[in-house]
Amino acid sequence: MENIKTMDVPDILLIDDTPEDIEAAVALFRENGYRVRIATKASTALKLLEQQAPDIILLDIYMPEMDGFQLCQTIKGQLQFASLPIIFLTSSNDEESIKRGFELGAQDYVVKPFNLSELLARVDTHVKLKHQSESLIEAYEELDSFCYTVAHDLKAPLLSIGKLLEYLALDYSDHLDEDGLELLSHIQDKSNEVLGIIDHLLEFSRMCEMPLTSAAINLETLFLQVFNELKEQQGPRQIELILGRLPEIHGDPFLIKLLLTNVLSNAIKYTGGRDIAVIEASSREQGNEYLVSIKDNGIGFDMRYASRLFKVFQRLHSQEEFPGSGVGLAICQRILKRHGGRAWLIGVPDNGATFYFTYPRSQRDQDAATP
Ligand SMILES: Nc1ncnc2c1ncn2[C@@H]1O[C@H](COP(=O)(O)OP(=O)(O)OP(=O)(O)O)[C@@H](O)[C@H]1O
Ligand SMILES: [Mg+2]
Repeated sequence: MENIKTMDVPDILLIDDTPEDIEAAVALFRENGYRVRIATKASTALKLLEQQAPDIILLDIYMPEMDGFQLCQTIKGQLQFASLPIIFLTSSNDEESIKRGFELGAQDYVVKPFNLSELLARVDTHVKLKHQSESLIEAYEELDSFCYTVAHDLKAPLLSIGKLLEYLALDYSDHLDEDGLELLSHIQDKSNEVLGIIDHLLEFSRMCEMPLTSAAINLETLFLQVFNELKEQQGPRQIELILGRLPEIHGDPFLIKLLLTNVLSNAIKYTGGRDIAVIEASSREQGNEYLVSIKDNGIGFDMRYASRLFKVFQRLHSQEEFPGSGVGLAICQRILKRHGGRAWLIGVPDNGATFYFTYPRSQRDQDAATP
C-alpha cells in the first residue's frame, strides 16, 4: 500500500446498487487512502467515467437498466477505457458468470458479501499493476522519441558526409591511385549503408507515433494489390500466388498496407532462389480473432533463432545473399500490436517459412457471423 499512498490519491469508481455493499466498501477504501465515486446505475457510471477515468472500476453484475456484463462491454469497447482494470462484484460463485466476466475483459472478481481484507488486497494489486504498466508505457514512449531524435539529428551530418565524399570523388579522383579510389568507394558505400539504417529507424519510430485511423479494409483485395505491385518490381521471375479467403477487417489502411508489404516482400525475397516461388495466403476465424497465414516455399530458417527476428536489425541471412536491413518484421509486430494483434514466424531450413498473425474481429463482424 505504501507505493499507492505516495502517488496521487487513487480513484475507484464503484458501480453497485446495494446500499449495504456500498457503505462497507466506501468506508474501507476511504480509510485506506482511496477516493471513491459511486454510481448506482449504468447511465450515471458512464457520465462519471466521461468526467474522469478512474484507476479501477468495481462493477456489480446485477443492476437496473443495464447489467454489469453489458456495461463492461460498453466500457471496454471505448478505446480510451479499454485498459482500465475492472473487478466484478458477484453475489454467486457461479463459474458461468465468472467466465463470462473474464471473457469480457474483466481483470478479477470478488464474491459478495465482501471479505473486506480480500477486496482491499485485490484492488491494491490491480491499481499497482495499472500504475506500473503506465510507467512502462511512458518509459517506452520516451525511448521511442529519444530514438527518433537521435536518428533525425544524425541524418543531416551524414548527408553532408555523403555530399563531401561525392565532391572528393568528382574533383580529386585524379590525385588518388587505385587503392585510394577503392578506399573512397568503400567509404561511400558504408556512408550510404548508415544512411539506410537511419532512414529505417526513422520510419520505424515515426510509424509508432502516427495517430491511428480506422476504416473497413478488404484484406483480400489489398493483399492482391500489394502482391501485384511488388511482383512488378521483380523482373522476369515466376511467382505463383494461391490466395484463399481473407477477411474484411477494421484498421489503419496505411499501416495495414505497410504490414502486408513487409510480409510479402519477405516472401518474395526469400524465395529468390526458387525456380517457381509459391506464396499461399489463407485465414480462419478463431474465437474473437482472425488467424491469417502467409506461407512461402523459400530458403526458410532455423527455428533456434526465431525469437530474434522481430527485433530491430536482426537478420538470419547474409547481406550478399538477401539484402535487407532487418527492420521489416519489427515494423509488422508494432503495427499488429497497435491494432490488438500479434505475429510470429515459423520456418524450416531450406523448406519455406510461414508468417502468422492474429487480428481482432470487430464486434460488428462477430455479430454478423452469429446466426
Ligand atoms: N519469409 C522468410 N523466409 C526466410 N527468412 C525470413 C523470412 N522473413 C523473414 N526472414 C528472416 O527474418 C529476418 C528479419 O526479417 P525482416 O523483414 O525484419 O528484415 P529483412 O527482410 O532482412 O530486411 P528489411 O528491413 O528490408 O525487411 C530476415 O533477415 C530473414 O533472415
Ligand atoms: Mg523484410
